[in-house]
Amino acid sequence: MATGIPKTKWNGELHIGNSQNEHFAFHPIWQNGNTPNRLYFGDNLVVMRDLLNDESIKGKVRLIYIDPPYATNSVFQTRKQQDAYTDLLTGEAYLSFMRERILLMKELLADDGSIYVHLDNKMVFNIKILMDEIFGAVNFRSMITRKKCKSKNFTKNSFGNISDYILFYTKSTNTVWNKQYDQWTDEKILKEYPFIEVETGRRHKRVPIHAPGTRNGTTGTIWRGMMPPEGKHWQFTPDKLDELDRKGEIYWSKNGNPRRKVYLDESNGISMQDIWLDYLDVNNQNTQTTGYPTEKNIEMLKRIILASSNKGDLVMDCFAGSGTTLVAADELHRNWIGIDIGSESMKVMLNRFQNGTQTLDDHLNEDKPVEKIKRVDLFSDQEEDEQPKVTMKVKQHLINNYTIFVNGNYSETEFQLPTQ
Ligand SMILES: C[S@@+](CC[C@H](N)C(=O)[O-])C[C@H]1O[C@@H](n2cnc3c(N)ncnc32)[C@H](O)[C@@H]1O
Repeated sequence: MATGIPKTKWNGELHIGNSQNEHFAFHPIWQNGNTPNRLYFGDNLVVMRDLLNDESIKGKVRLIYIDPPYATNSVFQTRKQQDAYTDLLTGEAYLSFMRERILLMKELLADDGSIYVHLDNKMVFNIKILMDEIFGAVNFRSMITRKKCKSKNFTKNSFGNISDYILFYTKSTNTVWNKQYDQWTDEKILKEYPFIEVETGRRHKRVPIHAPGTRNGTTGTIWRGMMPPEGKHWQFTPDKLDELDRKGEIYWSKNGNPRRKVYLDESNGISMQDIWLDYLDVNNQNTQTTGYPTEKNIEMLKRIILASSNKGDLVMDCFAGSGTTLVAADELHRNWIGIDIGSESMKVMLNRFQNGTQTLDDHLNEDKPVEKIKRVDLFSDQEEDEQPKVTMKVKQHLINNYTIFVNGNYSETEFQLPTQ
């Protein structure tokens, strides 16, 4: 069953110019009304160069997430064995490809913006060096290790590879940052907050009231006849400690040692660390998916977007694939720009913006009766369910050189994408 249809719905109209000389990449294939939300079909190098001429976008993008090719030397196919995209650049050629584009991304980013680059173990260290050079090592924030799939029964003479990595950089030291928290689980609560206050029933933990380092001020003086332990100071001034004690927030042990009570009901959750175990990609038959290869977990994208942008901010993914970043941004009331060079990606994204995602089961089991969904098939002549508004046929002559025929509401027109 299709779900997760974004609030911004594609209405079946494409914004396609009519001149044969027009470079397709310079026009969004779809722009949502008067909003900045738009989708470009083309090489992101060309599109980003063009976006730099737009004063409403240059230096205004608050967050960029990219999940580019990883230099795997492979061709990726959809669940239905359609070629989706190639990942054939390796070594020096790959690094030049990334360098050219990351330089443009930096120019598009706002001064208080952030960029997240998703990679695997092949290129993460090479790109880390590149990012240090372009953004400055001082603006490196985190290298997140993500568990991408369940454990494998690995046959090679090595450990199972279940991780990939996200490099997080900011453009400056003053950036948008909304701290993220994971929810407490019952198991973790029992471990971390083992005590219950008799008077109130409030669950809490007990922590020292001193911290490392000596101080000359009041936090280094006597409180209740006690000096802080050697080499330490009180975490609060004696006045504040008195106040906490009056409120019953200091626990006194049998030996007369004071400890501060920290209550579970005052906790926002577990502050997120740089190892992410809960954002596996499509991993079972019930997972909602577009069927696009390497589609990322939308909940992971939501975390990134929540952490490094605010409502109304502009988010860009210029290797958009199935549009996970764009849909997550849309759901979180951010504006978005998506770019991808692949016709399969365009088809999948537009379909996602119209119909949402389906379970993996539905993608794999063609015979299984699935709920009929209204479908406009952009990229084939086959008519399904009802008369398509636009029928489009894509033929790939060369990599990066597509010929597109548009019928329906548009006269038949041929577009050439600029070659790299
Ligand atoms: C790993 S996939 C992205 C998957 C995406 N994160 C998702 O959740 O579906 C990489 C994408 O980069 C696109 N791509 C590769 N080279 C590109 C280029 N020069 N310009 C724009 N897109 C490109 C490919 O077509 C592919 O869809």
